[in-house]
Amino acid sequence: MHIRSGTEDDAENIAQLHTRSWLTAYAEIMPAGYLNGSLLGERRAMWSARLATVARQPDHTRCLLVAVDGDALLGFAYLAVEADGRVLLDNLHVEPERKQSGIGRELVHRAFGWASEQHPDRTVYLEVLRDNAAAIAFYRRLGGRPTREFVERFPAGFELPVVEYAWSPDDVRILADHR
Ligand SMILES: CC(C)(COP(=O)(O)OP(=O)(O)OC[C@H]1O[C@@H](n2cnc3c(N)ncnc32)[C@H](O)[C@@H]1OP(=O)(O)O)[C@@H](O)C(=O)NCCC(=O)NCCS
Repeated sequence: MHIRSGTEDDAENIAQLHTRSWLTAYAEIMPAGYLNGSLLGERRAMWSARLATVARQPDHTRCLLVAVDGDALLGFAYLAVEADGRVLLDNLHVEPERKQSGIGRELVHRAFGWASEQHPDRTVYLEVLRDNAAAIAFYRRLGGRPTREFVERFPAGFELPVVEYAWSPDDVRILADHR
């Protein structure tokens, strides 16, 4: 397994893994009607648009990392600098059958490496569904601190409680040093 920057050619595999991961991790959290609907189509549209822009206008405000083994995609992480100056870890997913084998930790180390090099004085944060106990255990294990709780309204019309976890610039650097 190795980790590299994502490219436009990864869009389809990322959309498929993103969909599989939601179907697995959110089966008991999100309405079945939504999960069994147009999830893959939405993710295909999202990733092809994101990656087309990344390819056309490379910049230092966004980062896509993919964990691969040959042609197989094992996980990915996507970060972006937000309007308030903080860095958002917007997506982090590991192939469901390969969870708890260290891939998520490795992606976070590399993602925080990018953040600490490109944006050394910035907090990194993420938003996780409050009922996603596995991901919360993972973020706590990596030193994330809960900083905010709110209810998110999804475009499909349902609402779910969300917790924000954050890492100070110093904590980001410490995890980045594990690369
Ligand atoms: C959350 C996720 C990214 C973690 O990645 P992972 O590869 O499974 O995690 P790792 O194997 O790198 O685990 C790192 C540490 O977290 C701990 N951890 C991981 N999953 C855990 C769980 N379900 N319960 C308790 N601890 C857990 C591991 O034990 C490990 O601790 P260690 O380093 O002391 O051994 C992955 O499980 C995933 O893709 N989940 C589904 C999608 C998702 O919820 N993404 C987050 C959306 S906000």
